[in-house]
Amino acid sequence: MFKEKLLAGKRILITGGGTGLGRAMAEKYLELGADIYIGGRRKSVLDETAKELMAAHGGSVKTFGIDIRNASAVDEMIEKVWDDGPLTGLVNNAAGNFVSRTEDLSPRGFDAITNIVLHGTFYVTQGIGKRWIQDKIKGSVISILVTWVWTGSPFVVPSAMAKTGLDAMTKSLAVEWGRYGIRLNAIAPGPIYTKGAWDRLSPGKDTMSRSEGNPMGRTGELSEIQNLATFLMADGCDWLTGQTIALDGAGYLANGASFTHLANLSDQDWQDIRDKIKSANDQDKANRST
Ligand code: HXC
Repeated sequence: MFKEKLLAGKRILITGGGTGLGRAMAEKYLELGADIYIGGRRKSVLDETAKELMAAHGGSVKTFGIDIRNASAVDEMIEKVWDDGPLTGLVNNAAGNFVSRTEDLSPRGFDAITNIVLHGTFYVTQGIGKRWIQDKIKGSVISILVTWVWTGSPFVVPSAMAKTGLDAMTKSLAVEWGRYGIRLNAIAPGPIYTKGAWDRLSPGKDTMSRSEGNPMGRTGELSEIQNLATFLMADGCDWLTGQTIALDGAGYLANGASFTHLANLSDQDWQDIRDKIKSANDQDKANRST
């Protein structure tokens, strides 16, 4: 689909780049010649990913153990990246989410999700954007959102609220930073299988795939988000900014919000779901360095 070395000379940070969608986009960018930086809370997972990607494609993948909720740690990370040279692109991919009845959420549960998605993504975007303005670099930001920014979504309310905030950030900064040549766009994927998302949004019960309701009869493929993220990051369509593009086989147009069907679950179902999510979270925490 793309010519070789399309992204040569680009230097791109992908948050949450160790696994899932972030890893897939990092791999595609690397394959097309970009220098890659990946950040996430599990340094050992990032290092393993970097090793595997460089073994497969050559090039450079550098890693940062970072929790983007920590604004000063974010600034330190960006400073270290800039010591190598300025970035040209940012993919805001790091996120946190789990299905829950909203009445069961504690303030810390709400904060865990919104502090990662809304606050953390802002810290990274602002930290990089202000350096671009200072250095006169026409950088490009892609944020990974979700179709709930248009529909809302029950049972994932903190995520729907925070991602909607990022949709507003994308539109607002496209206007404010357009004069510097800085672009901000976003991708709103429907369900694309990753372990991190399925463990927290589909634990035990298949609440995610629901291919039968999708006009195209399937979930998304990693290659599809890789290709759209490449198109948005490459040069050649520099007037494209402030847009959030759905990548979901027309799923949200046909079905509206996700998870509406969870209204039928019992108290016991919700307890089982919570226990399964807890065990996924505990496993991930064992690998964290920050
Ligand atoms: C209710 C829960 C809960 C659950 C956690 N909490 N899980 N509450 N139901 N199932 C509560 C905890 O009890 C605690 O509150 C608070 O949340 C913080 O929990 P921690 O485990 O200490 O949080 P933390 O270590 O900061 O982890 C953040 C996380 C976790 C968001 C909770 O899930 C995570 O790290 N996720 C990263 C990966 C991820 O989520 N990927 C999926 C992204 S999918 P109390 O009050 O008890 O102390 C996505 C969109 C997909 O974004 C779109 C598909 C179409």
